[in-house]
Amino acid sequence: MAKLNWGMIGGGKGSQIGPAHRMGAHADGIFSFTAGALDIDAEAGRAYAAELGIESDRAYANWQDMLEGERNREDRVDLVTVATPNNTHFEITKNFLEAGFNVLCEKPMTMTVEQGEEIVKIAEKTGKICAVNYCYSAYPMVREMREMVRTGQVGKVRLVVTNFSHGHHGDATDADNPRVRWRYDPAMAGVSGQFADCGIHAMHMASFIAGDQVRSLSADFASTISSRELEDDAMVNFRMENGTVGRLWTSSVAIGRQHGFDIQVFGETGGMRWMSEQPNQVMYTPVGGRTQIMEKGEGSLSDEASRLSRVAIAHPEGFPLAVANIYVDLAAAIRGETRDGLPTAEDGVRSMAAVYAAVQSAKDDGAWVDARPSIYR
Ligand SMILES: NC(=O)c1ccc[n+]([C@@H]2O[C@H](COP(=O)([O-])OP(=O)(O)OC[C@H]3O[C@@H](n4cnc5c(N)ncnc54)[C@H](O)[C@@H]3O)[C@@H](O)[C@H]2O)c1
Repeated sequence: MAKLNWGMIGGGKGSQIGPAHRMGAHADGIFSFTAGALDIDAEAGRAYAAELGIESDRAYANWQDMLEGERNREDRVDLVTVATPNNTHFEITKNFLEAGFNVLCEKPMTMTVEQGEEIVKIAEKTGKICAVNYCYSAYPMVREMREMVRTGQVGKVRLVVTNFSHGHHGDATDADNPRVRWRYDPAMAGVSGQFADCGIHAMHMASFIAGDQVRSLSADFASTISSRELEDDAMVNFRMENGTVGRLWTSSVAIGRQHGFDIQVFGETGGMRWMSEQPNQVMYTPVGGRTQIMEKGEGSLSDEASRLSRVAIAHPEGFPLAVANIYVDLAAAIRGETRDGLPTAEDGVRSMAAVYAAVQSAKDDGAWVDARPSIYR
């Protein structure tokens, strides 16, 4: 089968997420990296593209040139990844979708709920794929938890408790570092800092595993480093459509915590826990029974967890291979197959609605606010 052509915007040299996309897209030999506008600095982007083996006529100075350059090619890119800072996602995604490209956009998908709703409508109208990189949902053992909920192994989910709290922006003397600063600058990050950066991953995962959607929430935000306009710590309580109760803590000043993403799901007949720093295991406790450690690669796991694990039992499979699972399912979707679980523009706009609800709630002393986008009310 011929490889699919892949292009990326952003993800330049030294960026945080660029390498994960490159490894993810290449891991299964499905995509060929053929085009890019990799850096805000045109020359740096073109030089890096050359280093990565992209032909010079497809190493573009910016995304507008890439759109024009690729639009009429017979071998144009089958998929465009948008890995730039948040304030550019909407414009780039919208323009590429409208020109008939499939897009994988980094989170948060847009800066406003209205922009998110527009992207959903454009994707529906054009029939093109718009995926959003909620890559943690593609870890094999996260899929196992989802299957356990779906098949009733923990009963109805009563409670989801999740943290995405790290300490990497906890040094006040580093607050002016340009790679840190944009995340707390409303002009580049939007209305929320840490909740929109990390909290939405945790909220997406709560919905993904519980098979339920967030309906309303109450939030408390804090900017613990006073020069920051946006929050670097948030506590969010939420309620889901089917009655699941959610508790979420997200922070970037929790010094000593490293990646710090974990989720616990408590059902009527059992509880489960997954931690991103030990992603190969799920702890499972049936009501009245002993705690068991379930391991990626065990023969008894669901088809879905087995499908997304390609390395033998006990060998670590980490973040780049979770991103690779998103690319595997995108390739299948581009080739016309249906893949359940691929995060889409619907997830992107639901996150934006939750972000705006949390900002409003935090301003109103934690008042409960409807967290659904108007198109899903
Ligand atoms: N899914 C995840 O787990 C995850 C993890 C980290 C970051 N992200 C998201 O990825 C995005 C990028 O974050 P990052 O941490 O890699 O940022 P970064 O600041 O480390 O890198 C951004 C890159 O984009 C380039 N860039 C900026 N504007 C551009 C433009 N207009 N055109 C082309 N290139 C441009 C920069 O030169 C740089 O190479 C953000 O939206 C962030 O929220 C997602």
